Amino acid sequence: MESDNKQALITAASRGIGYHIARAFAGKGYHTIIASRDKLRGKAVADKFRILYDTNVEWRRLDFRDKESISRLAQELHPPPAAVVINTGNPLCEPCDPLDSGYDDWLDAARIYLAGPLYLASQLVKGALQTQHEISVTFISSISVVEPMRYLGVADTVRAGITRWAKLISRLHAEKGVRANVILLGSYDTPGARTLVKKIAELTSSQPKDIWEKEVLGKIPCKATGNPDELGNLVFSITTEYKYISGAVIPVDCSMSRSVLI
Ligand SMILES: NC(=O)c1ccc[n+]([C@@H]2O[C@H](COP(=O)([O-])OP(=O)(O)OC[C@H]3O[C@@H](n4cnc5c(N)ncnc54)[C@H](OP(=O)(O)O)[C@@H]3O)[C@@H](O)[C@H]2O)c1
Repeated sequence: MESDNKQALITAASRGIGYHIARAFAGKGYHTIIASRDKLRGKAVADKFRILYDTNVEWRRLDFRDKESISRLAQELHPPPAAVVINTGNPLCEPCDPLDSGYDDWLDAARIYLAGPLYLASQLVKGALQTQHEISVTFISSISVVEPMRYLGVADTVRAGITRWAKLISRLHAEKGVRANVILLGSYDTPGARTLVKKIAELTSSQPKDIWEKEVLGKIPCKATGNPDELGNLVFSITTEYKYISGAVIPVDCSMSRSVLI
């Protein structure tokens, strides 16, 4: 079993959550592959990290709504990287009350949060098994999967299924060196989070700063968004170092969720 492959794929990593995770991998000398849609933005980030950390960083095109781009990426990465972090973008219907969403809104959320990520992860794990390489897949999800939030309801209903895949695959193929985990994030100050807050403010005729105070900070017991460096290091460690963590669902939310997971 091949196990010293220092290559990582981080999807949806040209900004926000994925960017900080990719930075952690590049900073630790990994050959880091950043995948996203916009070539200019993705290449600029890869160039920046390559220079900053003097390590191999490259950008590849990936659109979770486009099956061909997922298949192409999986074929190009053969054998697959030992470390895979699957993060994604945001669905068209967000903010969106599930009762107001249309059939196409559900399909779009399913593409970006379930079909795309799980099709990619399945192809990569299959490639690792075929080539007898270890692989560790970490999914980035949201604490709103267990602490429901009205405006994120479509996305969260759909992405709850990711944990089932991670549990099944990590149990079926554990002896072949396959691990899979899911991280449930609290709130991070990212361009995506700011856009969502702006849209909720428009929808509710409020000011974005009031929504940020009430709907973001107000819902977090420690009244602060997460530290992106801390997150990057945590995801790096779970994906590459802590081999005994597998099939786990890990909240990183400053106790934002009122429920206990077990
Ligand atoms: N920020 C938070 O507080 C928070 C909390 C919990 C969960 N999350 C989840 O974390 C994920 C990232 O959120 P964020 O706040 O970092 O968003 P963001 O700032 O908008 O960044 C989104 C990233 O995803 C890429 N992307 C968008 N659509 C894509 C697609 N169809 N295929 C591949 N890549 C795509 C974007 O690049 P391109 O546009 O170039 O593709 C960009 O790199 C989301 O799924 C979000 O629900 C975030």
